[in-house]
Amino acid sequence: MVDFDAGYVDEPFAGLCRDYPGAAVYPPHDFRVEWGPVFHRGRLDGRARILLLGQDPGPHEAIARRILVGEAGQRVQGFLAKLGIQRSYVMVNAFLYSVYGQQGGEHHVADPGIASYRNRWLDALLAGGDVGAVVAFGHLADAAWRAWRDTPAGEASSVTYVHLTHPTQPDAVSRGDQARFAAAMKAMLAEWNQGLAVLAPVVGGADAPVDPEPYGTTLTAADHATIPAGDLPAGLPVWMGGLTTWADRTGTTAALKRATIAVTVPPEARP
Ligand code: URA
Repeated sequence: MVDFDAGYVDEPFAGLCRDYPGAAVYPPHDFRVEWGPVFHRGRLDGRARILLLGQDPGPHEAIARRILVGEAGQRVQGFLAKLGIQRSYVMVNAFLYSVYGQQGGEHHVADPGIASYRNRWLDALLAGGDVGAVVAFGHLADAAWRAWRDTPAGEASSVTYVHLTHPTQPDAVSRGDQARFAAAMKAMLAEWNQGLAVLAPVVGGADAPVDPEPYGTTLTAADHATIPAGDLPAGLPVWMGGLTTWADRTGTTAALKRATIAVTVPPEARP
């Protein structure tokens, strides 16, 4: 038996997925709107205890149609595992579409059309459910959270909030420089350990015992976790939730690269 995520069946999520903003709200100059919106990952049935905010979907997410599935998602899933959370979470990104170029995210995170639609998701996920804590990974996710906190529903919320470094920030800032990568990773993991200490008393142990072992100074293979099949659409190959990188943008020109995602079946999944 292979579990799957049934998708956007119930309201208000079905309506949100019918009525999403397109290129009139997300300028194609700054967002890869042609790959379609990617909405969420995790529980939409009120059973989430923690809400995680990411930034924008990448190539793995464009294919899997769920957010935080690639390297960043595996690091986030490992973070949840340390809290003893295996199912009781839900995730949304600051943006529905992949950001194109360097500054697109900064320029648009507070755009009224983008923020108001995102706030409808946050209203739906935080109203009436069991979410006790919210984690924003990265400054754009933090900006998205603060925009919601300024709404009446946000002002009324007393949920525990933690802002942490985005899981692939060390990769982004180091640009292949090993020493910079090691330093950025060490700083991020020290901060994540502080985050775990705040979150554990509030939401820790929701599905499994809290892992008492903090992160070390480097991220190990054991600090990653696979994406549960129950988070992915029916029929998606299980290896798409695995730890091996399987999607990449390829192309000899910027336009071709924007138009192409190469999917490679990992060696261990080939017949
Ligand atoms: N990084 C994010 O913040 N979100 C995703 O969906 C993928 C990578």
